[in-house]
Amino acid sequence: MLNMLKNRRFLITGISDEGSLALHAAKAIIEHGGQIICAGLGLTPHHVGLSDKAKAYLSANETAFRETVQREFGPETPLYILDATQENSIADLASSLEEDGLEIDGFLHSIAMDRTIRNKKVKPLLDVTQEEFCDTIGISAFSLVRITHHLIGRNVLLPGASICSLSYIAAEKVTFHPYRNMSVAKAALERITIELADELGRSLGIRVNALRFSPYLGSKAGTATLDIEDVEKADMMSPLGNARPRDLALEIVHLMQPELRITGEIRHIDGGYHITG
Ligand SMILES: NC(=O)c1ccc[n+]([C@@H]2O[C@H](COP(=O)([O-])OP(=O)(O)OC[C@H]3O[C@@H](n4cnc5c(N)ncnc54)[C@H](O)[C@@H]3O)[C@@H](O)[C@H]2O)c1
Repeated sequence: MLNMLKNRRFLITGISDEGSLALHAAKAIIEHGGQIICAGLGLTPHHVGLSDKAKAYLSANETAFRETVQREFGPETPLYILDATQENSIADLASSLEEDGLEIDGFLHSIAMDRTIRNKKVKPLLDVTQEEFCDTIGISAFSLVRITHHLIGRNVLLPGASICSLSYIAAEKVTFHPYRNMSVAKAALERITIELADELGRSLGIRVNALRFSPYLGSKAGTATLDIEDVEKADMMSPLGNARPRDLALEIVHLMQPELRITGEIRHIDGGYHITG
């Protein structure tokens, strides 16, 4: 079991710091014999005319990303900067992997951003602008298509590879703490998962699955959107209590293993929350 991912290499997106769900997945992949490459948000040559505030945000994220990866996995771990809002940055990532001879057996999409949620306050959908809607869906959902497109275009995503992305039950149901704009983006992410699963399964044997996780306060995205009361309520409503990052990480390992004939799944890693009324 511990060698399940031996001789397999995976690209991990979405590590910001030690609280990131992607970090838990990366650790579990390594425990099971796999190797990782990390791509995190930071400043790229394609960022022009940024405000000082935007530059500072990207630099801080990049520093935390680099420090976290190097501390947790060592200085040898291949590391790339990726801004999923920038087509050229996604293309650069794929061409760098090709130049560095790093073919991959799959990747984790763990990227989300919604500027209509601020200080845990969710903007009503009725007030969301077209720009805010397109930003959120572009970063949090369509980036799955563009990353896959460029990786396949450069022949670095191998036939038979496995792609996983992270979603939330709000893609389907209005929960007790509605996300509005982000819920629409998660619904798009899940539909993209299903369409890509069909396209890529038939053409390249590539699997695409999404995992809906419990509300989790340990990450930046979690603390920006959730209150402790939200997490406690979900914990109470879930037959097994909220799932832990480790549960999610092990399911990702399972889906990343070679030659598994599972695709187009929207999995619940949520302690059974989804079966409750
Ligand atoms: N925290 C939760 O409660 C929870 C529950 C279910 C699903 N999820 C999902 O899990 C995933 C990871 O979230 P997390 O909780 O680990 O939080 P996180 O803040 O650690 O991860 C989100 C990541 O998205 C990255 N990102 C944002 N914009 C980007 C861009 N333009 N280009 C590249 N990367 C960008 C951030 O840098 C960060 O690393 C997200 O998709 C989130 O929606 C989270």
